[in-house]
Amino acid sequence: MRRILFLSCTLLLSWTWIACSTNERVDREVFEQVNRSMQAKKLSEATILKGALEWGEELADEAQAQLITALREAIEREGVVGAIDFCQVNAISLIEEVAPKGIEIRRVSYDYRNPADAPREEEKPFLDMYAYNVENELKSEPNVQKIEGGEVLLFTRAITIPGEFCLACHGKEGSEIAAETLAKLTERYPEDKARNHAVGDLRGMWSIRLPKREVVQKL
Ligand code: HEC
Repeated sequence: MRRILFLSCTLLLSWTWIACSTNERVDREVFEQVNRSMQAKKLSEATILKGALEWGEELADEAQAQLITALREAIEREGVVGAIDFCQVNAISLIEEVAPKGIEIRRVSYDYRNPADAPREEEKPFLDMYAYNVENELKSEPNVQKIEGGEVLLFTRAITIPGEFCLACHGKEGSEIAAETLAKLTERYPEDKARNHAVGDLRGMWSIRLPKREVVQKL
């Protein structure tokens, strides 16, 4: 019995060791690959960051345009209450469709409606920065920051409420959000925090993870 136990422990340990060292090897290969193509293309860090910023802007613009068009169409077709169902089913998948392979696009907010949009630790400093800017009436510029040891570039851009159109679902309860809409929102999103906003408020931000390797390849 003891021998079997010993054997299985040894097996487990060696399996873990093999798995870990394979991962390390893959990481190193990726790292070397990125370095080689950076050198081949003579790319500086500044060029890569600029590339990530431009790409992030393009993706955020496209995702935003898709969402707004789909939302307006849903409201025309089904009214504001019906459009809530549409958003619940489609908002996240519409955004994911815009993302090329290997890239993650999210909308995040402290005042989230969908709990899946709650910020991760690495996203919080940027939300805080945008919140500070909005409170102090400073302009917010889109941002790119290296995370995960520089292997990933995180693009963020503030989302403020641009006009009254949004208030039918994100405005004051009882006046701007109609009673029927409010009832539906409460039913669909019991933890909803995305209400009582005014035009100009920070609603959240775009958060796009761009692996450095993909950015280098695209340049
Ligand atoms: C028809 C109602 C409706 C309108 C109008 C609307 N939204 Fe939303 N919004 C929603 C719903 C529902 C969700 C949650 C979607 C989900 O479940 O993924 C949401 C989610 C969001 C999110 C993601 C963060 C979160 O709270 O989960 C942002 C950002 C957002 N809306 C911004 C806006 C902006 C800006 C406008 C105006 C241009 C707007 N919305 C107009 C219903 C609406």
